[in-house]
Amino acid sequence: MSEIIALPGLIDVHTHLRVPGGEHKEDFRTGTAAALAGGITQILAMPNTSPPLTLPEVMVETLATARHDVLCDVGLFAGASPAHIDRLPTLAPYAVALKIYLNDTFGKLRVEDVPTLRACFQTWPREKLIAMHAEKQSVAVGIGLAATYERSVHFCHISRREEIELIADAKMRGLPVTCEVTPHHLFMDVTDRERLGMLADMRPVLGTPDDVAALWAHLHDTVDCLATDHAPHTLAEKQSDNPPPGVAGLETSLVLLLTAVTENRLTLSRLIDLMHTNPRRLYNLPEQPDTRVEVEMTPTTIRNEMTQSKCGWTPFHGRTVAGRVKRVILRGQVAYEDGMVLAQPGTGMVIV
Ligand code: DOR
Ligand code: ZN
Ligand code: ZN
Repeated sequence: MSEIIALPGLIDVHTHLRVPGGEHKEDFRTGTAAALAGGITQILAMPNTSPPLTLPEVMVETLATARHDVLCDVGLFAGASPAHIDRLPTLAPYAVALKIYLNDTFGKLRVEDVPTLRACFQTWPREKLIAMHAEKQSVAVGIGLAATYERSVHFCHISRREEIELIADAKMRGLPVTCEVTPHHLFMDVTDRERLGMLADMRPVLGTPDDVAALWAHLHDTVDCLATDHAPHTLAEKQSDNPPPGVAGLETSLVLLLTAVTENRLTLSRLIDLMHTNPRRLYNLPEQPDTRVEVEMTPTTIRNEMTQSKCGWTPFHGRTVAGRVKRVILRGQVAYEDGMVLAQPGTGMVIV
């Protein structure tokens, strides 16, 4: 008999669920099925949809679809855009937090001008967090804004040594900044690009071995959360002439991190801080009573065919990890067991 480990329901504060407009890549039902299969019971969905979540009417409609479809709990990010910046406060009742994209990535959401940044920091309610896609020197912009307006900034998917060291410096000065790292930036580096081609392309791009070493070294202090940046695209899209950046991550994050635990690179208690306690505290997310995840510690090879995500592939295909998610119990009900998604659409809760 293999050992069974029980964990609290895990939280992913960075998921792309593609509703509205990208439902051929993922939808609320398949994305939340993938979350459950990965031991995740609460997720925050990103606003770079089509149309993006920058207007209240789009948010209201998206929340209505979510209420109908979700298998685990889901909250939405509002997106900052220069065109609709005067409407920003009207998005707050429908969103858990605000996302600002400072650098190029999938979709058109971008903020590149100071007036829009000032408006974000002056008009978004202080009790809701501001998260940023910021790379390289844009991290310094975010830290400057956190200091100027004396309000928290959360940095998404930090991937480079220079960025994590800058954030460590800012934290040492007592500035209100937090950050997340992704499993793909911890478990892959640029050399995987040679093997996987565009299947290993995402924003931020994979780091050098030295960047990866810096992330691991800071995992014990500077890093606040582990987040998947689950960004599904179809294989046909990834193999096209104009491949979009992004990889799936919901189903592989926990088992990869648990493998690191068995290799003594991380403790189980730190894993729970990074995937449950800290995400809940940062985003002020509700407790999920009577909710737990059971993992069977048995060597398991990740395979594309096992995926619940609509995209149907993972950059970790063929990798052997230390365990598999056996059962997920959400509010007293078995939501997932032995590869079967048992939760019914609409049984997840929408968080606002
Ligand atoms: O690789 C990425 N894909 N990075 C992002 O920031 C966005 C994401 C997506 O939406 O596909
Ligand atoms: Zn991003
Ligand atoms: Zn993202």
